[in-house]
Amino acid sequence: MTEHKGFTSNFGAIMAAVGSAVGLGNIWRFPYICGQYGGGAFLVVYLCFVFLIGMALMMTEFVIGRRSQHSPVKAFSTLRPDKPGWRFVGLFGIITCFLILSLYLVISGWTLNYVGDTATGALANMDGTMLDQHFSHFSSSAIRPVICLAIFTIMTAAVILGGVQKGIEKVSKILMPILVLLLVVMCVRSLTLPGSMGGVEYLFKPDFSKLGAAGVLAALGQALFSLSVGMGVMVVYGSYIPKDDNLMRTSLWITVCDTLIALMSGLAIFPAVFSCGLEPAGGPGLVFKVLPMVFNSMNPVTGFPTGTVFAVIFFVLLVTAALTSAISLFEAITAWATESLHIRRTPATLVIALCVIAIAAFCSLSLGPLNHIHIAGMPLFDLVDRLTAAYLPPICALLTVLFFGWVMPGADIHDELSNHGTLKTGYYPVLRFLTRYIAPIALLLVLITGIFGN
Ligand code: PFF
Repeated sequence: MTEHKGFTSNFGAIMAAVGSAVGLGNIWRFPYICGQYGGGAFLVVYLCFVFLIGMALMMTEFVIGRRSQHSPVKAFSTLRPDKPGWRFVGLFGIITCFLILSLYLVISGWTLNYVGDTATGALANMDGTMLDQHFSHFSSSAIRPVICLAIFTIMTAAVILGGVQKGIEKVSKILMPILVLLLVVMCVRSLTLPGSMGGVEYLFKPDFSKLGAAGVLAALGQALFSLSVGMGVMVVYGSYIPKDDNLMRTSLWITVCDTLIALMSGLAIFPAVFSCGLEPAGGPGLVFKVLPMVFNSMNPVTGFPTGTVFAVIFFVLLVTAALTSAISLFEAITAWATESLHIRRTPATLVIALCVIAIAAFCSLSLGPLNHIHIAGMPLFDLVDRLTAAYLPPICALLTVLFFGWVMPGADIHDELSNHGTLKTGYYPVLRFLTRYIAPIALLLVLITGIFGN
């Protein structure tokens, strides 16, 4: 048996898991979905889902991982050896990670490209129409996005090759504080611009007329995605958490940090957008098309290029956030390959990197040169997006929570949460109720709407 190597400290574990949770979902996706579904109204529902369902799912995955000391495929069958069929849930999670990672790498590659574009001043003199065309031209071209995603994958794989302690934990401990610092700088800049309060109002003032059933479901989907639950990544990280850690406290820290960073991202973006009198509901293109315009407007005619500096800071922030999330998805696949396929870490990492670059490249090309090739009636990028947004994570999360609530022995759960009876677990009945009834029903609703609503 190989020695199990995990995180060395509670702080390291929290930083790595916060690194996984904080990503493009917080900085790129949360602000525009929040704005789209009525600002404060969306926020209230989102916060309820994050703290009730998302956090319960995170604890579920941590308990399964730390109790079994395995990655998802083996974890389920270790905890219930008499029910080996549950290992397919783990396998399902790995497939989901693979697909999400492919798409994630495409968008991460875009962020990397925009660091270059902003740093060289290539966008500095463009107006809204030119920025729009620039983004469309770049994202649908054949070579550049593929090179960017390949570079990003190599950066991710390099950290994975370093191992759990010297790679993931060390990099997360360095990058996460840097990320918070950059975000604070962006928030201060954005909030001190003239007319910025309109953006704060847009983000926080509740408009329940815009929420609707679609907004409620989007809030749950975003809560799961943002906390990185529902695909087994937190099972893998759970298996690395030190045995004397308080899982409840660790989960709470991660959830609070993730939520605060999402809110700060909103505060870094919308006040600046409003201050320039631009359209806030920019959708997914908000960050790539609207924000560069905001930065350009900060550049004075002569003198120091303030806007360019903030633009570079912003895209470095995005790259940093995306990197630590991509690392966690990559690690989940690597842990499965080393544990279940018995491949050593280095060759496993290299093979996974090549496979994931190939799929991501096809996704990227499907936005341009291969746009005419349709699978299930749509280009590959859209298909993977649909699968990873609406179907696979809720299915995987539902099966995981059913295993935890109904199949895994309650005594094992309690023992793991209380660190063998040494910690108080007054919250346990609430967690049990949430994971047996509330979370499964909510996930089922998301799934049904995802399937029949499209
Ligand atoms: N939580 C990440 C984000 O908000 O960008 C995305 C993510 C990472 C989802 C890891 C799932 C995952 F397993």
